[in-house]
Amino acid sequence: MRMQNKTAIVTGGAQGIGKAYAVGLAREGANVVIADLDEAKGKEVEAAIKALGGKALFVRTNISKKSEATALVKKTVDTFGSLDALVNNAAILEAQPVCEITEENWDKHMAVNAKGTLFCSQAAAEVMKKQKHGKIVNISSIGALAAQAGLCSYHSTKAAVLTITRSLALELVPWNIQVNAVVPGTTNTGMAERAMSDPNFTKQVVDPIPVGRLGKPEELLGAVLYFASNDSDYCTGQTLVVDGGVLAFC
Ligand SMILES: NC(=O)c1ccc[n+]([C@@H]2O[C@H](COP(=O)([O-])OP(=O)(O)OC[C@H]3O[C@@H](n4cnc5c(N)ncnc54)[C@H](O)[C@@H]3O)[C@@H](O)[C@H]2O)c1
Repeated sequence: MRMQNKTAIVTGGAQGIGKAYAVGLAREGANVVIADLDEAKGKEVEAAIKALGGKALFVRTNISKKSEATALVKKTVDTFGSLDALVNNAAILEAQPVCEITEENWDKHMAVNAKGTLFCSQAAAEVMKKQKHGKIVNISSIGALAAQAGLCSYHSTKAAVLTITRSLALELVPWNIQVNAVVPGTTNTGMAERAMSDPNFTKQVVDPIPVGRLGKPEELLGAVLYFASNDSDYCTGQTLVVDGGVLAFC
């Protein structure tokens, strides 16, 4: 088991892809802290992991608040004694065409997706520096590398996530902390379902996928396990695209 005796935080782990990461990391032996705004669903994931014989804890957290990100990491270390991997997965998506983006829409995306990733990483790095090891896995999106209409606020934050990944990777080398990013293609979750309310979604997003379908949450787990475990000790500042071939196509 690749995460035996290790502790991992998964932000946004109450549902969707984050839930698959939380359960998958637990199956590999990790103690898992699920950090999310959704207490009911977060506690369900905690219970599901415990039912599998694993150790889990739900911590209600708004990652856009620095104080809550700091408290999350403290609670994790107080409970399990270390923090070996942080998966920065929580994010929001509210579509608006570029010319109609409101100040509120822009600020909301930045607060959760970019600042949340930054604040959780800063808090985790403080602990990981003392340990002299750690893994930070940031979840970006293919939208950071290629555009889709209506998603400029969201995609801008996902590009920021890649920049945070590379900057942090270089700055944390002296403490043996690796920072990498997973870049998912469109995956079948609540987030994708909300985007599907747009009638152009199938034409614009699903039809061009060379594999011919949306991804499944569990199909992203391997990439996260690679970056969260010692398998990736010589890999830092990198991005791994898992998108059914979309970005390979021209
Ligand atoms: N689903 C896709 O097609 C897709 C594609 C590319 C990238 N991604 C990325 O994968 C990740 C997971 O996506 P998903 O589809 O599972 O999303 P989702 O909407 O199903 O789940 C997101 C989770 O984040 C939580 N969350 C939102 N704001 C929060 C906050 N301020 N503090 C703490 N938790 C908060 C939500 O409560 C929810 O549980 C996101 O980073 C997303 O950008 C998803």
